[in-house]
Amino acid sequence: MGGFMEDLRKCKIIFMIGGPGSGKGTQCEKLVEKYGFTHLSTGELLRKELASESERSKLIRDIMERGDLVPSGIVLELLKEAMVASLGDTRGFLIDGYPREVKQGEEFGRRIGDPHLVICMDCSADTMTNRLLQRSQSSPPADDTTKTIAKRLEAYYRASIPVIAYYETKTQLHKINAEGTPEDVFLQLCTAIDSIF
Ligand code: AP5
Ligand code: MG
Repeated sequence: MGGFMEDLRKCKIIFMIGGPGSGKGTQCEKLVEKYGFTHLSTGELLRKELASESERSKLIRDIMERGDLVPSGIVLELLKEAMVASLGDTRGFLIDGYPREVKQGEEFGRRIGDPHLVICMDCSADTMTNRLLQRSQSSPPADDTTKTIAKRLEAYYRASIPVIAYYETKTQLHKINAEGTPEDVFLQLCTAIDSIF
């Protein structure tokens, strides 16, 4: 644990929050290429855990199928394990889809540390819905219908307002206009990230 904290001090930690379809995954891929960060998406970590059929996976399967939030202790455990696995070999962590509730941010701050930057991908519900519908047409399994998308969006808005308010006073919060082309959005992100290096 001592070694973990020491190595961690040399790394930048960036949180990227934003609704489903706001482009978090798309942009993180581009940022990894430019800055050499390690990209950790809590959604991806949870899907990997499900596929492993572990004891933990039994606890989270139903919750994820409903589109609800997985208990924060499990998410933080998975995140920390993934961070330990790539520590010493990275310039920083780009943590996508986290925190989804204030409690997650508080726990991360206590157990690991506060992030250097929090990015919020601002995108209208219409744009996010259209992108997800388009994706579900082109890449089966098509689990995103108008109804399930509306549910995910509602859950996002409900949870994100207090999270944004929490970081507004605590650390650097950058709101990014995520409506534009992937290139437009990427340029804004680079400006925000360059400001912390
Ligand atoms: P997660 O996997 O995080 O899903 P999500 O955030 O709901 O949505 P996506 O990953 O689909 O969207 P994205 O913003 O990454 O967009 P993308 O770049 O893919 O979470 C899944 C589930 O896991 C949750 O519902 C929850 O149950 C659980 N979970 C996850 N984290 C948790 C946590 N911290 N605590 C508890 N539970 C948790 O882009 C989408 C589409 O749009 C693509 O087709 C892309 O090509 C297109 N696109 C992207 N950008 C643009 C652009 N600028 N212009 C045009 N098209 C674009
Ligand atoms: Mg994603």
